Amino acid sequence: MDLDQLAALHTPAGRTALAAATGLAGGDPLTAAAALRAGGTPPELAAAALTQAELRRRATGKFGPAAARMFFTRAGLEQATRQVVAQRRAARLHAAGVRALADLGCGIGADALAAARAGIRVRAVDADPLTAAMAAANAAALGLGELLTVDCADATTVDLTGVDAVFCDPARRSGGRRIFDPAAYSPPWDFVVGLAGRVGRTVVKVAPGIDHALVPAGAEAEWVSVDGDLVEAALWCGDLAQETHRATVIDRGGAVHQLTGSGTVAAPVGAVGRFLYDPDPAVVRSHLVAEFAATVGGNLADPDIAYVYADAATPTPYARCIEITDVLPFSLKRLRTLLRERRVGRVEILKRGSALDPERLRRDLRLAGSEPASLVLTRVAGAPTVVVGTPVTAG
Ligand SMILES: C[S@@+](CC[C@H](N)C(=O)[O-])C[C@H]1O[C@@H](n2cnc3c(N)ncnc32)[C@H](O)[C@@H]1O
Repeated sequence: MDLDQLAALHTPAGRTALAAATGLAGGDPLTAAAALRAGGTPPELAAAALTQAELRRRATGKFGPAAARMFFTRAGLEQATRQVVAQRRAARLHAAGVRALADLGCGIGADALAAARAGIRVRAVDADPLTAAMAAANAAALGLGELLTVDCADATTVDLTGVDAVFCDPARRSGGRRIFDPAAYSPPWDFVVGLAGRVGRTVVKVAPGIDHALVPAGAEAEWVSVDGDLVEAALWCGDLAQETHRATVIDRGGAVHQLTGSGTVAAPVGAVGRFLYDPDPAVVRSHLVAEFAATVGGNLADPDIAYVYADAATPTPYARCIEITDVLPFSLKRLRTLLRERRVGRVEILKRGSALDPERLRRDLRLAGSEPASLVLTRVAGAPTVVVGTPVTAG
């Protein structure tokens, strides 16, 4: 996709081709291309329409029905914030009184669009001309052009006068590969963390694996998961910071649950109880396991391992719960015998603090029965242990 193709998709012929391609997306691409060409669409326009229709189809998971009107590059879609996360961030900015925001490196515009939808005026820039054009096309397609302007510019040259907050989600991919070292982010990390010194109210989206030592002093670090997947961390600077650490857990139904704390409290250590809780990755990454353990009256069984044990099954959005049937020191032979006795044929394997390869273990167990079980490979007071149980379903 290039700028000419994007422009072609906005012509009457392009709109017709895109509408026809939408009905064909998800099927065999060669058949779809042949069908469009047979209907009189020139090959290049057919290819652009089919690419766009396919990206819209894939984008539905992130953007819901709005995806059907939006424009994407492949990389732009991959890097885009999910709508549910962007919307929540925008609502928090709006609630904090932000009314004029700069989005430095806006991509196809997921965050900027959500901010505009929340009633915030947004000046967005992206250094890549096609990506910036897509963000502008998305603002127009969603009727947000009044509040959201997009320019193609280098973020480091943008004049920030007149904005009352800045958002920056630096590119963490290069040549299709993920970048783990913030020093290699674009715009560069020094520029990104320096924004808080220029415009106090700054929010920076970073990879959820960020080293806690890189969180600027005084900032709030928030880890966000959606339906159990850890999707991002955000650093809230200036007076936008409300807590030190926050875990935001967005469940399958879109409900938001939050735990906050200093991230420095150690959870109590004690015995294995009747139930094992496997905390959500946002809770673990935000170092809020102690705060979570307090909500279920639980404790760790090893000071370094984030499984929480308790004698009651308390419904919680912050963890999966497993009812424990057996706890054994790890031995393949003993585990195999136990699972045979129980006629277990299907296992899910969780692990923390174990070097065992779950897939290899699954093969080595040579399961023959039909019953399900959960196996948790872990350590209890330092000793390699396997906890066997069954998931407690909510309700
Ligand atoms: C992670 S993406 C942003 C995604 C966006 N928040 C969204 O949800 O759609 C980062 C973007 O920053 C842009 N970028 C990288 N370096 C830049 C720079 N120096 N100035 C402006 N944009 C830049 C890239 O082109 C890319 O589109």
